[in-house]
Amino acid sequence: MAPKITVIGTGYLGATHAAAMAELGFDVLGLDIVPEKIEMLAQGRVPLYEPGLEELLRRHVAGFEGASGRLRFTTSWEEAGEFGDIHFVCVNTPQKHGEYACDMSYVDSAFESLAPHLHRPALVVGKSTVPVGSAERLAARLAELAPAGAEAELAWNPEFLREGFAVQDTLHPDRIVVGVASDSAERRLREVYAQPIAEGSPFVVTDFPTAELVKTAANSFLATKISFINAMAEVCEAADGDVAKLAEAIGHDERIGRKFLRAGIGFGGGCLPKDIRAFMARAGELGADQALTFLREVDSINMRRRGHMVEFAREAVGGSFLGKRIAVLGATFKPDSDDVRDSPALNVAGQIHLQGGQVTVYDPKGMDNARALFPTLGYAPTAVDAAQGAHAVLHLTEWREFRELDPAELGKAVSEPFILDGRNALDPELWRAAGWTYRALGRPRA
Ligand code: UDX
Repeated sequence: MAPKITVIGTGYLGATHAAAMAELGFDVLGLDIVPEKIEMLAQGRVPLYEPGLEELLRRHVAGFEGASGRLRFTTSWEEAGEFGDIHFVCVNTPQKHGEYACDMSYVDSAFESLAPHLHRPALVVGKSTVPVGSAERLAARLAELAPAGAEAELAWNPEFLREGFAVQDTLHPDRIVVGVASDSAERRLREVYAQPIAEGSPFVVTDFPTAELVKTAANSFLATKISFINAMAEVCEAADGDVAKLAEAIGHDERIGRKFLRAGIGFGGGCLPKDIRAFMARAGELGADQALTFLREVDSINMRRRGHMVEFAREAVGGSFLGKRIAVLGATFKPDSDDVRDSPALNVAGQIHLQGGQVTVYDPKGMDNARALFPTLGYAPTAVDAAQGAHAVLHLTEWREFRELDPAELGKAVSEPFILDGRNALDPELWRAAGWTYRALGRPRA
């Protein structure tokens, strides 16, 4: 019999995982402690913007016309414990307030709430990003709290999904990593992921600490790659070089590769910044802090980009933001998402506003979240509206919509045709041909 699956936590990771498990043919029960979220999901609505996720949900959620009915939602731990053979824990692990370490309280309380309802053999699979060593601790806690005792087993299976590609990354992962303590746990997970394995996704079996470390190591590498190219951008600016050409040229070396070498205002979001900080904190606790001191530099190069963009904009408007109108294109931390957590774009917009600039923001999907976080900024319903009377336009999130803007059309709205590309994603020739002054971080002024 195919195992029945529960997914604990229905945020961006859990909602996607639950829908994907139903798509793979399993009966799935999603659990969240926030009743409003569960109500929305049960009606086939996703409380966040992720391309393709709502469609996937509606193909499976019970009660929808033509849906498989394999996906249901609940707020009851008892129901989850009774229903599931395999329980995926997908709750978030944010940065602790005022500390680098990650906040494990959601993970801990998920285990404390679920375990007492595990009366028969079950596999609990952690997917959340946690400090190394957590799995071992949680496995012991599980065996202690579950009526099934040692037959309530733990496995660790980190997720690598990118926002904006979450559905694709979940259904067709580029690798599946499982930290297990027994052959039977490995067997069960091979069964769950049989389809992607058959399609060729590599399946890497490790112990607990390695599985936990794979996730933080991967994110640290990505963050380092971005900060590396941003450091090169700083040098290019000083030497009058062109970081976009430099990235293209070094990227042809297969060992380096072209991806994640786009210089700009740097990384943000709910993962990379907090993951590298939590990794440093954990290495410190383990007495290996020296190994990761370079991540401090990665973090500070990254944060410096935001301040640098503000300077760049101030210079563009003549040395002071007072009385200047600034249009900001983009509020989310990356395109194809409505996520504004630690968004470099909003950070820059906020700094300019605090320095006396009149900032108007437009984003294709992130307006509501941005408004909730920064209610004092101005917001406009379109890019052209945001640009009305602007003394400078700042391109801060690389949405396709912005690459497809007509520079001539936008030129009619602004007071000064000055565009600063904080993502090195626009075509300089196109903008210059339409009469704009185009500037980008790490590139010659021309
Ligand atoms: C990341 C990891 O990629 C993913 O594997 C992990 O599971 C979660 O964290 P995500 O947070 O969705 O995913 O964002 P990602 O695509 O990695 O981008 C992070 C940030 O880096 C964005 O702000 C993006 O704009 C920025 N970035 C990315 C650059 O500044 N330059 C680049 O070349 C690439």
